[in-house]
Amino acid sequence: MNTAVLADYRSYPLISPLASLQLLPDQVQVHWADGRASPFHHQWLRDNCPCPHCVYSVTREQVLEIIDVPDDLGCAAAHIDEQGCLALSWTDGHRSRFDPGWLRAHAYDRQSREERQAARVQRQLWDASLQLPAFEYQALMDDSQALLQWLLALRDTGLTQVRGAPTEPGSLAQIARRIAFIRESNFGVLFNVQSKADADSNAYTAFNLPLHSDLPTRELQPGLQFLHCLVNDAVGGESIFVDGFAIAESLRREDPEAFRALCEIPVEFRNKDRHSDYRCLAPIIALDALGQIAEIRMANFLRGPFDTSEQQMPLLYRAYRRFIGMTREARFRVIRRLDPGQLWCFDNRRTLHARNAFDPASGARHFQGCYIDRDELLSRILVLQR
Ligand code: OGA
Ligand code: ZN
Ligand code: ZN
Repeated sequence: MNTAVLADYRSYPLISPLASLQLLPDQVQVHWADGRASPFHHQWLRDNCPCPHCVYSVTREQVLEIIDVPDDLGCAAAHIDEQGCLALSWTDGHRSRFDPGWLRAHAYDRQSREERQAARVQRQLWDASLQLPAFEYQALMDDSQALLQWLLALRDTGLTQVRGAPTEPGSLAQIARRIAFIRESNFGVLFNVQSKADADSNAYTAFNLPLHSDLPTRELQPGLQFLHCLVNDAVGGESIFVDGFAIAESLRREDPEAFRALCEIPVEFRNKDRHSDYRCLAPIIALDALGQIAEIRMANFLRGPFDTSEQQMPLLYRAYRRFIGMTREARFRVIRRLDPGQLWCFDNRRTLHARNAFDPASGARHFQGCYIDRDELLSRILVLQR
């Protein structure tokens, strides 16, 4: 156990102790007991000094700005102290001390960076054969370990079902708030999915809804979507899901040109009624800075006319038809009917959802829904894991 300060609330397990150091003119070469070698540039080490002058201990946030130390600041001495920490003294007299667990977790030699990259991608792509991750409502409300398992399934699989929930209108808010605060929209904190005469969305009719994400009309689509079944006496109305990331990956393999078109050509999505008018121009597939598929934006019923060059228009139609065609393929589709007291919770920026048409004359159907952003899910997971 060592006593070095951390600019963090997490703890960093000791993967391997520090074995030896080599002080070079511009960096400290660290050799770990397990054989790995990691360079740490002087500037990087000075920048990340966790001492109480450089990091405010109450917030654990940095107060030092690297520009306030000379860019050629030298390291006068480096040693491994009796607690196994990296101890440095700088030519201006400042001293820094680094926890070896923290240092290893932030090492930027090639192997360490590759390991971190691999650990970041936990997602499991799925298709029609998915073993649906299902959770019991009461366990999620009472037990933080059960809660964590649910959140990990949301992060990695992106589709879950919760069973045994109450059927009182409004009760959805309680389980949603087990994760975080709810993201309100013009449809309310909770929205009611019911067929109604003055519908302000096709969702509030008895039509079938093709596979879509909700609120593609916003710069940031909601991360998590809940759909809670209160009443389901109508014939039809089954829920359908596909893993948008799995479809996009298949498209990338099977038709790279179409994939690229959907990543690059922006499409406008529109959501308008008498009081609001939301529009967002963005590509259907978004990649993150590492080239990983990060988001699918899709709702045919909210799409504006394509607006791209004469040369690209045929390509965009070809790619769009191909993508929608894939969402209709049985190999990708999970189809289930939701009963009262059950709810779906899924990654709205990954898992596309749809509903079969239902017959409102055959019985009532009432779902309630709400949204939570992905950031809240990820933060909650990290806090539960502390
Ligand atoms: C929606 C929606 C699904 C359903 O309201 O956006 O997708 O089963 N509803 O009614
Ligand atoms: Zn310091
Ligand atoms: Zn929807």
